[in-house]
Amino acid sequence: MRTVTCTAPVNIAVIKYWGKRDTELILPTNSSLSVTLSQDILHSKTTISASKEFSNDRLWLNGVEEDITKNKRMHNCFRETRAIREAMEKKAEADGQPIEPLSTYPIHVCSENNFPTAAGLASSASGLAALVYTLSQLFELTISTSELSRIARQGSGSACRSLFGGFVAWEMGEKEDGSDSYAEQIAPETHWPDLQALICVVSDAKKGTSSTAGMQSTIKTSLLMNERINSIVPARMEGMKKAVLQKDFQSFAELTMRDSNQFHAVCLDTYPPIFYLNDTSRAIIQLIHEYNATAPDGKMKAAYTYDAGPNAVIYAPKENMAEIIQLIAHYFPSNKEPTEFFTDTYNTINGKLGEDFLPKLHDNFNVDVIPVQPIGSISRLLHTKVDDGPRVLNDTESLLKEDGRPKRLA
Ligand code: DP6
Repeated sequence: MRTVTCTAPVNIAVIKYWGKRDTELILPTNSSLSVTLSQDILHSKTTISASKEFSNDRLWLNGVEEDITKNKRMHNCFRETRAIREAMEKKAEADGQPIEPLSTYPIHVCSENNFPTAAGLASSASGLAALVYTLSQLFELTISTSELSRIARQGSGSACRSLFGGFVAWEMGEKEDGSDSYAEQIAPETHWPDLQALICVVSDAKKGTSSTAGMQSTIKTSLLMNERINSIVPARMEGMKKAVLQKDFQSFAELTMRDSNQFHAVCLDTYPPIFYLNDTSRAIIQLIHEYNATAPDGKMKAAYTYDAGPNAVIYAPKENMAEIIQLIAHYFPSNKEPTEFFTDTYNTINGKLGEDFLPKLHDNFNVDVIPVQPIGSISRLLHTKVDDGPRVLNDTESLLKEDGRPKRLA
């Protein structure tokens, strides 16, 4: 039996992917760009064992066995990686140096997230990236990460971007077979160490409309979408790449917020409309704009972005993070202990958190921009940073036992 365990990170897009031109191959209607966040805070972990003793392929997700044959997208990822392994085995055989015929062995897959699935926290991206990356390690595939991203893309579009650390572009491509639709790294995680992220968990609940269904409905019914696909995103992709390479937070922040807002505008323009933001999400938007508008030097201090759910991700230079956390904690009070409310691995916030405490801001800041929100509107703050791509873990981290069955079941 051969076993490999890996983790893959979450990525949060600053130019959003929304819409497919081919739903089978998962080919997008526009390019997108994302930032990979630290696996120390959020990750999917996958163990895969291959053995000729197993009777069939099996899959456990978050401790529950699922029927692997019903998961077409995962199945596509198995098929593609096995085909590459099979070609390697044939070549090795022809060269007189046969390798183990792993492509013919049934596999057991066990995967877990360390955060709630389908709450708009990009669980499909890290989950499918972990699956495809672990398969590539198990089969010792010698293909490039961009080539591997074409396979991950067929599991979930945004997953192709989670195979890299740092700043990642998914080029939409033009070809019908999808061979030119892959992810590539724009800049590594070490490029802009000053940029950090704060995830405001607004709701742990499973979202109403899945991204997959939502985006197809937008493609069918939104007229605004044509403008987005044909002219707005192409220009924004160029602007965003430049902003990242130049570490220009001013441009990065404006493009990020505009693109998030436009993505939610095309959701509203979908018929019937799709709502991912809620009152808490909108209050955070107002707060960040007020915070930016009153900065004494006129410079942007933070940028929000929202995926297909109400949780905010706030990107900001490290120097502003303590202030932003205190600001959020004031307007969105929690009755939890700070340690339970706030996950902070990299920075220690000195000072108070909570409703009765407002950080010292500029005089122009309108403290009544939003009322203090009901307790618990934000359930958790995750302070994180830009970080690396998938990691291979050692055997002690395996989610499967020696007999190929999960160590833990739900
Ligand atoms: C709003 O990658 O989850 O997060 O390809 O159908 O699996 P499928 O969709 P998915 O869509 C993500 C959409 C988004 C924006 C983004 O991550 O770019």
